[in-house]
Amino acid sequence: MPKITVIGAGNVGATTVQRLAEKEMGDVVMVDIVPDLPQGKALDMMEAGPVCGFDTRVIGANGYEETKDSDVVVITSGIARKPGMSRDDLLKTNAGIVKSVTEQVAKTSPKAVLIVVSNPLDAMTYVAHKVSGFPAERVIGMAGVLDSARFRAFLAMEIGVSVEDVHATVLGGHGDTMVPVIKNTTVAGMPVTEFIPKERLEAIVQRTRDGGAEIVKLLKTGSAYYAPSASVAEMVESILKDKKRILPCAALCQGPYGVPGLFVGVPAVLGRGGVERIIEMKLSDEEKAGLQKSVAAVKELCETVDKLMAA
Ligand code: NAI
Ligand code: 2OP
Repeated sequence: MPKITVIGAGNVGATTVQRLAEKEMGDVVMVDIVPDLPQGKALDMMEAGPVCGFDTRVIGANGYEETKDSDVVVITSGIARKPGMSRDDLLKTNAGIVKSVTEQVAKTSPKAVLIVVSNPLDAMTYVAHKVSGFPAERVIGMAGVLDSARFRAFLAMEIGVSVEDVHATVLGGHGDTMVPVIKNTTVAGMPVTEFIPKERLEAIVQRTRDGGAEIVKLLKTGSAYYAPSASVAEMVESILKDKKRILPCAALCQGPYGVPGLFVGVPAVLGRGGVERIIEMKLSDEEKAGLQKSVAAVKELCETVDKLMAA
């Protein structure tokens, strides 16, 4: 039976555990620093098993003993955005949290695939890679699946068709500079441009970029977690079942897309070993320029992380 650990029993962490438990993806351990919180949520989820029809073992813990030898570890610990706060404002606090969590995980689950969720996403994935010393293929950031899901949802709403028939990929950093790729966006195999005029499409692209902030503004006391947890579960499933789905996620990109060794959102084949391959899409000149801008923003954040970690 595979073992999955989720660090952080807050909104994203607990919802992720619930989704993994319902899918019977493996034994799940949920860790948080708040005493009794993960234990209470884990017990509550186990008690849902008879009603929902799952036998997953869910364990709550405040330490790492129970997480030993996990196959996948999802890191959601950290603070979330409040209204008016950018993802980058979170940098300093979350870098410290992700660093300390990764140190523990690397000791207790040295063979795990790490999926980082904490924000700012691309920089926190960089921290987890640096601190764990894991090979790059076993350190992955979750953002592209979420950003692409938002884009797909908005397009399906606009056209009035099923989300299942809308395919799209969002590349780049998980921030204001992310790049929804119009060129490869299709509706039942047809170019999206045959369904939506240019100016409406531009508005939907902007709504996608602002997707996280739109939810923060509505929730007022936190950020999104239903779509984020669904996105994590999709990545975990592809890894544990070795499905080799092509999912956009933050992977160490050294060369493809002209990225000089940074964790940034690209389509990646996810299998049992983590990132098995990065797929290079053909981009328009405008998309290439957008991606370079996004890469520059991620680079700047990582340089700030380096300064913080050296201090
Ligand atoms: P939350 O505040 O509901 O939960 C965070 C949990 O982390 C809390 O329960 C807290 O006690 C715990 N925690 C803090 N320090 C810890 C430590 N050292 N060890 C273990 N647990 C610790 O926040 P939420 O909504 O779950 O978001 C979590 C993070 O995920 C935030 O940084 C948020 O910005 C990010 N996020 C990223 C997304 C993405 O697309 N990559 C999407 C949604 C959220
Ligand atoms: C989001 O995009 C907060 O990054 C998070 O919802």
